[in-house]
Amino acid sequence: MADNRVTFGSKLGILLATVGCAVGLGSIWRFPYMLGTNGGAAFLLVYILFMIFLGIPVMVTEFFIGRYSRSNTVGSFKKLAPGTKWCWIGYNGILAAFLILSYYAVISGWTLEYVWQTLSGNLYASPDVDYGIHFEAFASDVFRPIFWTAFFIGLTHFVVVSGVDKGIERASKIMMPLLFLILIVMCVRSVTLPNSEAGLTYLFKPDFSKLTSSVVLSALGQAFFSLSLGMGCLITYSSYFGKETNMHKTAWEVTIINTVVALLAGIMIFPAVFSFGIAPSAGAELVFITLPNVFEQLPFSNLWSLVFYILLAMAALTSTISLHEVSTAYVLEEFHTTRKKAAWIVSIGVFILGVFSSLSFGLMKEVTINGLTFFEALDYLTAKIMLPLGGMLTCIFVGTRIDKKILKQELTNNGTIRFRLFSIYVFFMKFVAPIAIGIVFLNELGLLRELMKLF
Ligand code: PHE
Repeated sequence: MADNRVTFGSKLGILLATVGCAVGLGSIWRFPYMLGTNGGAAFLLVYILFMIFLGIPVMVTEFFIGRYSRSNTVGSFKKLAPGTKWCWIGYNGILAAFLILSYYAVISGWTLEYVWQTLSGNLYASPDVDYGIHFEAFASDVFRPIFWTAFFIGLTHFVVVSGVDKGIERASKIMMPLLFLILIVMCVRSVTLPNSEAGLTYLFKPDFSKLTSSVVLSALGQAFFSLSLGMGCLITYSSYFGKETNMHKTAWEVTIINTVVALLAGIMIFPAVFSFGIAPSAGAELVFITLPNVFEQLPFSNLWSLVFYILLAMAALTSTISLHEVSTAYVLEEFHTTRKKAAWIVSIGVFILGVFSSLSFGLMKEVTINGLTFFEALDYLTAKIMLPLGGMLTCIFVGTRIDKKILKQELTNNGTIRFRLFSIYVFFMKFVAPIAIGIVFLNELGLLRELMKLF
């Protein structure tokens, strides 16, 4: 389609921007938390299978939609299937982005608290601190976590409104590799702790008796969440791709980098978890109560800790920017308002929801919906339902509405690059992805068992 849309500057720029959106708290905070609450290595195995067999095809499909239609999440469906209800996939994505941002900002706020605590010398003040109790004291405080949530949303708001995201992108070219390096140092320290083998066994030796329907659904949700799939974020990003971008190669690269970061996070966390006698199923705070123990074991604890939490906050910021942008762009276009006003509407809305997520770690801990706290319920709804549903419908959309010739032309850049796995990709996108996601849903709802009984 003809257009004069701006495009990303370079191949590396494309890769880094997409990696910036994908790599964030999802791999470093959420992955260990999910693995720990889902019994360990069996989760890892299913997660990696989902990344390869569902994540990559869905990502290629989103890239196709974005670059071919050259518009945003809702706009792309309106352009490719005018007058139909397919654009609801886009609305689902925008709502998911808004909801995810509301609790993602809370966890991002925690990273700032840890930056602050390291700076003020509180975190490693005395040698025998129980970091679990330390975290509890912070999380059950009403105002401090909310203050940091507001601060983080403010930071994101500022970037989205003032358009300095190019600067952030440039900065993250240095910061991302640095974060990678620190992860490696932490892994080395963690695996050389006493009793660390138990952690490695937990992480890598699958116990298939742990493989329940909810573990499978969690792995599916984690794959979608950590690759930023199913909510149109990558559709918007790929609308800025150049004509020569090799989209299937980019999808592989992003997925591999993301998986490596998640694995490093696992190797950094679990040996330490077992070495310090922390419960792997501690929940959302797992990373925050484990890492200070490891930093404490390094020379210059404060320095490592400070740099790590700053980099983690930066990695979170590149993700919150993209989440905020998805909602802001929608409000902007739909309600014909200014960028500033649109961003304010999103920031205030996200903050109000964020307050409830934050309180659900303290004051509102006992308030549950179906056994889940407010934070857990939002996380469940978005990562485990809305994103996989979005991905599933996106595949069905392209599988049924788009001419395969056009698809091939676009994915091979008009025949100039090879895509040897094209027919396998189409098979996975058309059949494997929608059916597999459908089965996971039915399984979790217990409907699969009922259906089986009929035969
Ligand atoms: N993938 C991001 C992470 O892992 C989170 C995210 C999800 C960002 C969806 C954008 C869209 O942290």
